[in-house]
Amino acid sequence: MGYSFAIVQPLYPLGIFYLCRTILIKKTEMKKIFCLLLTLLVLPVTMKGKEIISVTTNHLQLVLQVNDNHRLYQTYFGERLSAATDLNVLPLSAAQLTSTAIKGHEVYPVMGTEDYYEPALEITHADGNPTSVLYYKSSSVCPVEGGTETTITLADNVYPLTVTLHYVAYTKEDVISQWAEIKHGESGKVWLSHYASSMLYFEVQKYYLREFSSDWAKEMQQEESQLNFGRKIVSSRLGTRADMFAQPFFEVGINNPVSENSGDVFMGTLAWTGNFKFTFEVDHDGVLRVVSGINPDASRYLLAKGKIFVTPQFIYTFSHHGIGEGSRNLQRFVINHQLYKGKEDRLTLLNNWENTYFDFDEKKLTELFSDVKDLGVDMFLLDDGWFGNKYPRKDDHAGLGDWQVTRSKLPHGLPFLVKEANSKGVEFGLWIEPEMVNPKSELAEKHPKWIIKLPNRETYYFRNQLVLDLTNPKVQDYVFSVVDGILKENPKIKYFKWDCNSPITNVYSPWEKANQGNLYIDYVYGFYQVLSRIQQKYPNLCMMMCSGGGGRCDYEGLKYFTEFWCSDNTNPVERLYMQWGYSQFMPSKAMCAHVTNWDSKSSVKFRVDVAFGCKLGFDINLKSLSADDLSYCRQAIKEYNRLKPVIYSPDLYRLESPYEGNHCILERVDDARSHVLVLVYDIHPRYGENVLPTRLQGLDVNAQYRVKEVLLMPGRQSWLSCNDKTYSGDYLMKIGLQLVSTNELTSHIVELIKL
Ligand code: DGJ
Repeated sequence: MGYSFAIVQPLYPLGIFYLCRTILIKKTEMKKIFCLLLTLLVLPVTMKGKEIISVTTNHLQLVLQVNDNHRLYQTYFGERLSAATDLNVLPLSAAQLTSTAIKGHEVYPVMGTEDYYEPALEITHADGNPTSVLYYKSSSVCPVEGGTETTITLADNVYPLTVTLHYVAYTKEDVISQWAEIKHGESGKVWLSHYASSMLYFEVQKYYLREFSSDWAKEMQQEESQLNFGRKIVSSRLGTRADMFAQPFFEVGINNPVSENSGDVFMGTLAWTGNFKFTFEVDHDGVLRVVSGINPDASRYLLAKGKIFVTPQFIYTFSHHGIGEGSRNLQRFVINHQLYKGKEDRLTLLNNWENTYFDFDEKKLTELFSDVKDLGVDMFLLDDGWFGNKYPRKDDHAGLGDWQVTRSKLPHGLPFLVKEANSKGVEFGLWIEPEMVNPKSELAEKHPKWIIKLPNRETYYFRNQLVLDLTNPKVQDYVFSVVDGILKENPKIKYFKWDCNSPITNVYSPWEKANQGNLYIDYVYGFYQVLSRIQQKYPNLCMMMCSGGGGRCDYEGLKYFTEFWCSDNTNPVERLYMQWGYSQFMPSKAMCAHVTNWDSKSSVKFRVDVAFGCKLGFDINLKSLSADDLSYCRQAIKEYNRLKPVIYSPDLYRLESPYEGNHCILERVDDARSHVLVLVYDIHPRYGENVLPTRLQGLDVNAQYRVKEVLLMPGRQSWLSCNDKTYSGDYLMKIGLQLVSTNELTSHIVELIKL
């Protein structure tokens, strides 16, 4: 087999691109020329008509190959190979050398082929035939922002079925985003029962899975186990509050358990605000297949002729240096390419939820605006309980759906509140939950057909509410109009906290009628439709994605939301574990962390310091704080504003895990490695524990760094022995600093500045 191919030198095609631009070829023409050139350079057309397709970032490579049977196989995925010629000699699979049954690891296996494991695609044709075979047709490569997009077309030779695979390789972040588009030309009913975003293969001795289970107030609990023969599934079927029991993130340790700074690790997530499914299947040859996509279990999808079924993006990285490097890749990717306003600043805030719950009036709220000013945060966030007249929202039993201000409670309406806040130099944010309805609401009375609800069974209520049927375009218009109406009346509202407290219950869409299998999927596309309309009309609006705590937390949602609520549980110790988990996939500026009275055993300083590493907010009655604590909070806001560039840096080093010891230590380093922040938490040290220095990471070996503990309680001095001393980067990384103590629930925020 003699293949010839070229590895793209990243600057070469770009040079041609800019050359074309200078000679003023029309933009669309230029893009076509550029794609063609890039395709010719990257896609090796072989002498025998076979092809090797390489999806490559700076350090990562996925290699696909068309076999003699004209089907597409994965020959390699991992650290980037240095010799281009090696792509020629990659076996179709290691097992292929001993097994006659295996033709290789088919990239998008379909039900009905010789593969007996979970398929990527299962489609029942109009004539009832449930099988298909996909053959390679063509491929191309185009530049996209931050990388290249490889597009591969596969088609059946018996039925008019086309599957287009997309791979976007983000060069400098070392992240790949992959999805599929499925289309048929049959006139009868065609059903999809499997429709994965991707199938990836690994062929080593051992595999270890780290997953993140969840529940209300117990989000993002990491657990790890070895994967042996058979299937392990991590999935959700909750619909709206999709991530309540399992978060859509995973890590696979390749040959070794998942570790922070060493070993091969594959990290992935599905960009989808709905049901997801990751299947990890170790087959009879010890090959691990990872199938990622929408959970098809409750969604046999009726696909209309000519309509393109677009799967969500499966986004992943591979690191040869543990999850530390992998999560820096992903954080950088999210900031640069996924998160709404990813590179912009974030607003600090005071929320009233845990302070007042539903019990507030105009007087209470306007007094709180003064607290916001006094504290020094940017915004006041008015939470649940401000709406409903016929059925006022006094508790969680009524009012959802009636988004008019409760006149008896707030007689001058929202405009008055917004004006009052603004007059004090405070921005105004508002809580909404527009996908939901209480049966006790005018909306439910007026539009019973807009509600997801079984027509012939007793209704089950989750938090006394039901979900609106966003598959229905009229309901999409209505949900858009909730936000639009509020903003038309109050154009100065800066921010929404968009809540979603119920999963989809009583699963029946009056709109989908006989096609109930489409409900979960069309719902999510309806949701995105509403969100993109809001984003187009109100591009300056910032929004928090919230779902009864952290029940909605995914990369696609973050295209519309500037941040998400990690959990209602704000106990700082619990939060350290959750933040440890989220930080493996999420940047700090997207992770909302509020200082509350949920746990009053720990000091206010400890609570503030835990929230300090994320997107900081307060949800506490300031009057309940001592003078020293209040003064500490004010100082914390000032320091937070000063330190934001380093707090929001994607370069996070998790130095000591709360899962492995009695302390938790995190380090953030800025791009230039000149500004460093170390966040130190002594959680529950043991008596007489041997406390050792902590070695820092990611510093400039040759530079000198000045160490200073910042954020001290009024009148206190730092007792860290390293305070106000200078060390070389080399020393800090080889010997380290004595940072921990045996004082329970103690914390330190330590700043290092390169001299
Ligand atoms: C659940 C959220 O997680 C809370 O922060 C709060 O907004 C309540 N809903 C309000 O009902």
